[in-house]
Amino acid sequence: MSTVPQHIAIIMDGNGRWATKRGLPRKAGHKAGAETFRRIARECKARGIKYLTVYAFSTENWKRSEDEVSAIMNLLRDYLHEAVDSMLKEGIRIHFFGDLTPIAPDIRELIHKTDELSAALPDDAVQGNICLNYGGRDEILRAVRSFAARVKAGECAPEDLDEAAFSALLDSAGVPDPELIIRPSGELRLSNFLLWQCAYSEFYFTDVLWPDFDAEELDRALASYAQRDRRFGGVKKS
Ligand code: FPP
Repeated sequence: MSTVPQHIAIIMDGNGRWATKRGLPRKAGHKAGAETFRRIARECKARGIKYLTVYAFSTENWKRSEDEVSAIMNLLRDYLHEAVDSMLKEGIRIHFFGDLTPIAPDIRELIHKTDELSAALPDDAVQGNICLNYGGRDEILRAVRSFAARVKAGECAPEDLDEAAFSALLDSAGVPDPELIIRPSGELRLSNFLLWQCAYSEFYFTDVLWPDFDAEELDRALASYAQRDRRFGGVKKS
């Protein structure tokens, strides 16, 4: 088994505290966090990691101030403009997880453009998944509802549902489960992130705040992962 994961997922936490420590508004922390995302995405690509999934905005993040929510949406807008210009050249597919219905129409339009560009890239291109208005429970509920609707329409039977069929109904359809989930900033919880997909993920927690997360920190996470004994419910091979 390769010691480099093909899919890592990151909860980009600690932006607010990073800014507050510097006497800056919280949105300055998100701006720095968006820069860290760009750097870490490049570092992942350089290390041969095929999928990087990041938690950008949860179904619960609407509880934040209007000012903070619009700052995060503006950063996403900026990133999408850049992605439209660069993803073909850099060979990076961008995909979104989450319920995009309440997202501003211009952002949805940009996402539509990145989807079209992604479709033009080869299957083996590196893929960034951005979780936007995403919640693991919400994702599971949406999948259950869509399966129930198909049963009701007589298209399939309840017993047709197995783990593979259910995975194919999720936002992450076609993406392998993350082998490694990283959460910076000292918090030891999952916060509704990839609840189905994390069944056998390894976790790496660090006190470093996301804007300070760098290539050395990524390598520490990867070195920790490489030491793990992944048994998937089996027994250790001697
Ligand atoms: C969590 O830190 C971070 C967020 C809720 C927002 C993350 C968004 C970005 C980094 C910008 C947009 C993303 C991309 C991909 C361009 P927190 O605010 O909860 O930190 P705290 O716990 O210190 O308050």
